[in-house]
Amino acid sequence: MSNIPVTRTDKSRLGLVNWDKLSFGVYFSDHIFISDHDGKSWDNGKIVPYGPMPMEPSMCTLHYGQTIFEGLKAFRSVNGGVNLFRADKNAARLNHSGARVCIPEYDEKHLLEAMVELIKVDREFVPKKRGHSLYIRPLAYGNGNFLGVHVSDIYRLIIMTSPVASYYPEGLAPVKILVSSEYSRAVRGGLGSAKTAANYAASLLAGEKAKKLGYAQVLWLDAVTRDFIDEVGAMNIMFIIDDEIITPPLDHGTILDGVTRDSALTLAREWGMKVSERQITIDEVFDAHKHGTLQEVFGTGTAAVISPVGLLTYRGLDIEINQRQIGPIAQKLYDTISGIQYGEIEDKYGWIVNIDV
Ligand code: COI
Repeated sequence: MSNIPVTRTDKSRLGLVNWDKLSFGVYFSDHIFISDHDGKSWDNGKIVPYGPMPMEPSMCTLHYGQTIFEGLKAFRSVNGGVNLFRADKNAARLNHSGARVCIPEYDEKHLLEAMVELIKVDREFVPKKRGHSLYIRPLAYGNGNFLGVHVSDIYRLIIMTSPVASYYPEGLAPVKILVSSEYSRAVRGGLGSAKTAANYAASLLAGEKAKKLGYAQVLWLDAVTRDFIDEVGAMNIMFIIDDEIITPPLDHGTILDGVTRDSALTLAREWGMKVSERQITIDEVFDAHKHGTLQEVFGTGTAAVISPVGLLTYRGLDIEINQRQIGPIAQKLYDTISGIQYGEIEDKYGWIVNIDV
């Protein structure tokens, strides 16, 4: 039994949800978890109805962005109950991000307990349809009121949830991606490995410009040489060249340590594939295409799971990947990860926590 107090809403939002048109992150469940830090420690937190939160105009995060977030999902299992996928990795990453922007560490076990309790309270919001899920969004931010540039004196952590369909309207259909040689998302020594608002703010203009040109997102190159590939949109990126999976390494601190990235690499290694976490240049990708060895390109992320790339444009040159069809490895990764998430495929890795709801 959890000791997190629950105040239930008397006006459910369930009727607002259009289950046939869920899209991503537009409906919010009835309740949220809130925990406050008073400058000394985090409190135990409480579950309360979703709704507006008063704040002062001087609230520091509005000005200086001292904020971090996470994204993970829960799935209705074919074996009953709800499967929470790799929540321990997300809890650890929240603290990794927090350390980078001076947000006090949150007890990871308590965070997991809060997520489980919230899912139990809002169980009716976990979608029933295969392919849909409950997206869980923890976030933490400085909640102090001041204008000096310094860390906050007090903090708030919130967990909210949202019933979702796939992130891209295209679903698993391959998307068009524009290689950005003008804008950068992250730099060495910067914030790239932290899930913090500034990284997403940095991505918006390039993303909007790409969309106007008919692309789903941009491919980010490193900010110094603009040769090496970092990420795609808000996802990690993988290439299959000559039967080898290649993905940029984590040790430069410019890319996010993606949970789906890790899941895909774990599976690919188990399938006996050659997996390389190494730097890869955009020229190497275009050369591989020229030589007929570029087999697949896809993004990995919690929201879309796997997002195949069908076309890449760089400096006015287009390359088509796998005739704009989903490649066999992208498909197998998607099927296997989703199968584990929905309880259809055995979880050999301890990735699932089943919640009895
Ligand atoms: C994900 O792939 O889960 C993301 O990070 C996208 C999210 C910010 C909506």
